[in-house]
Formats: sequence, structure tokens, C-alpha cells
Amino acid sequence: MGHPTDQFQRPLRDLRISVTDRCNFRCPYCMPKEVFGPGHAFLKDPQLMSLAELTRIVRVFRGLGVEKIRLTGGEPLLRADVPELVRVLKQDLAMPDVALTTNGWLLQSVAPALRAAGLDRVNVSVDSLDDAVAGRMNGLGFKVDRVLRGIDAAAATGLPVKINMVVQRGVNDHEILSICEYFRERGHPLRFIEYMDVGNTNHWSSAQVVPAKEIVERVGARWPLEAAGPAYRGEVAARYRYRDGRGEIGLISSVTEPFCRDCHRARLSADGNLFTCLFASSGHNVLARLRAGDDDAALTQFLTGIWTGRRDRYSDERAGLLAAGESRPTVEMSYIGG
Ligand code: GTP
Ligand code: 5AD
Ligand code: SF4
Ligand code: SF4
Repeated sequence: MGHPTDQFQRPLRDLRISVTDRCNFRCPYCMPKEVFGPGHAFLKDPQLMSLAELTRIVRVFRGLGVEKIRLTGGEPLLRADVPELVRVLKQDLAMPDVALTTNGWLLQSVAPALRAAGLDRVNVSVDSLDDAVAGRMNGLGFKVDRVLRGIDAAAATGLPVKINMVVQRGVNDHEILSICEYFRERGHPLRFIEYMDVGNTNHWSSAQVVPAKEIVERVGARWPLEAAGPAYRGEVAARYRYRDGRGEIGLISSVTEPFCRDCHRARLSADGNLFTCLFASSGHNVLARLRAGDDDAALTQFLTGIWTGRRDRYSDERAGLLAAGESRPTVEMSYIGG
């Protein structure tokens, strides 16, 4: 079976699957509680892809060349069948790389089951080590300690852990060095994510973006850094090693230095809609096709058609669109999968 490439010769390598649109946090930059409050219509259980449906869909994607699955959300660990899903992906489908992105709140107790199921690695969000700031950034006043214990528990099982910090000027950028120090000592790569204009609810403004270049300068002034090449083609984070050998940091500079040229990612929402860009305004309903009785060959043809037609490069186009005063509605990250 052929491996399709899109209109810019990009193959399909990664599939990011949102297993639920729900989250136990309400980070204002992602799911502000004014919007995602009691009145918000989350997906209902029958709308979600079941384990059996996910297995079939991923098997078809595997045939198209997908080698890496990232389970995300919302908060993926709100779904109790995630360890079983990991087991199926690793053992039944022989997926080379299966990773999970989580806020860490539920990680401590499930880490051993995830490891036993064959999970390859986990990325945990930590925006602040200061309870007051962390509480504002998770929207619900939760303290950070429980997340840190989750990270320790995951590391203790042998899972490689990376940390994601979304940096917002005036909110948590004063903690860049203290967070570096904390994770340097524990040997976990820390990646700084530029605050993005994804979704329609977070009141994004470019003034709140701390450019990756500035972060490298601030960290490098304290601990000298050297650029490291990408760990794999199309890696989202630009990596820098500490010259003293104490690990590395990464910069995810979607706003100031976009990386669409090498974007090999597709996203599947929890209700089975496929999006070919984080900033897409609409998706393609894969689950409806499956539920209507499409066999694997028909699904393969459907997905191949979508990927070969793909022209998305939103982050590359962003500056031009903003300058022209244009904006377009995009779907929420908690739905489509961060
Ligand atoms: P690994 O390098 O395999 O660990 O994966 P990753 O960096 O793709 O994983 P992670 O889920 O931790 O991604 C971190 C963040 O990078 C995401 O939550 C997004 O904020 C951002 N990101 C990932 N992929 C894309 C993308 O395709 N486009 C844009 N604009 N941002 C992305
Ligand atoms: N900008 C940048 N990163 C974001 N994330 C969620 N919303 C945004 C945004 N607007 C991040 C989370 C997590 C990852 C899955 O996506 O903090 O680290
Ligand atoms: Fe939940 Fe992650 Fe979004 Fe925060 S960033 S609200 S933890 S999905
Ligand atoms: Fe890929 Fe779209 Fe992100 Fe560009 S903006 S890297 S095309 S997901």
C-alpha cells in the first residue's frame, strides 16, 4: 500500500488522537472557565470513538505510513481505557512510537499501568512551580505538587518524561529560569511553547508571546547553551543542550519561527473527525464512514484523498493574515487535540 504525500510533498507520519474533549483543568489559554463552564456542550459518550473503533482507524493509518501516535485531549487520563488503548497500539498494531501528553494530575496512580502497557514516553505540562501562578494558569487553583509527584512516578517506572511550559508574558515568564533549574536537576527536557492563537476563546494577543529567541537568550545567559540538531526530521521543538552537560531545553516557536514545511501531523478529534492542521476550521468525519460500514480499503481510500489534497501551512501564513486584518474561526485545541 502506498504512503501518500500532500501537495507540498509532506508524508503522513504522526497521528495525534484526542481521546476526550474534557479536562479537569481550565487553563485560560486553552479552556477558559467562562466558556467551558456548566453550559458548555461536551461530547456525549456514544459520540466518542470506542476502543474497537480506534483500533480499526489506527490500523488504517498505520497502512498509510503513520509511525507515531500521540494520545492527548482534553486530558487523556480522564478516560479509564487509555492503558488498554496503549496496549493495543503497541502490542496488536506494533506502532513504533506511542506517547501521551497530559496535565499530570492523574499520572501518579496510572503511570505503572501505562508503562506496563508499553507506552514509550510521556509529556507533562508544567507552566509554573509557584502555587499562586499555577492555580491561575490551571484556572482552578490546583497546587502544582501533585503534578510533580506524577512526573516522579512516571520517571520511576522508567518512562522518559518531557515537560511542556506555555510561556505567557507577564503571567509566568519570570519563572523560566527556576523551572529550568528544577528540571535540569531531574534530567527531564523542558520545552517552552510560544503562546498560540489557537481556538477562539483565549483572547490571544501577540504582546503575550515571548519569542523563542528571547527565551534562549535568557536561559543561555544563566547556563550557556549550544544548538543541537533535530532528534528526527520534522521535530517540532528546536533543541539546545546545556554546555555543562546537564540536559537540554526545546523551543516550540509556532508563532515566531513556524515549522509547517516539515509538518507530518494529522489530528483526530475524540468524535472521529480528522483535521490536517491545528488551525483548520473543519474536519473530515472518519468515524461516520466507519459506522456507516466502510471497510478498511474504503477508509484507506478516503484518508488518502484527504492527505493528498492537503495544503495547510497556517503558521507560515499567520503573519500575513494578521497584517491583513484577517482572522478565521478555528476549532478549539481541547477538541482537536493539542
Ligand atoms: P515529541 O517531540 O514527539 O515529544 O512531540 P511533540 O512535541 O509533538 O509533543 P507535544 O504534544 O508535547 O507538543 C507540544 C506542543 O507543541 C503542542 O501541544 C502544541 O502546542 C505544539 N505543537 C505540536 N504540534 C504542532 C503543530 O503541528 N503545529 C503547531 N502550530 N503547534 C504544534
Ligand atoms: N498556546 C500554546 N500551547 C497551548 N497548549 C494549549 N493551549 C495552548 C495555546 N493556546 C498546550 C498545553 C500543553 C499542550 C498539549 O498544548 O499547555 O502543553
Ligand atoms: Fe486541559 Fe491541557 Fe487545555 Fe490545560 S492546556 S485546559 S490541562 S487540555
Ligand atoms: Fe502543521 Fe498546521 Fe501547525 Fe503548520 S500550523 S505546523 S501545518 S499543524
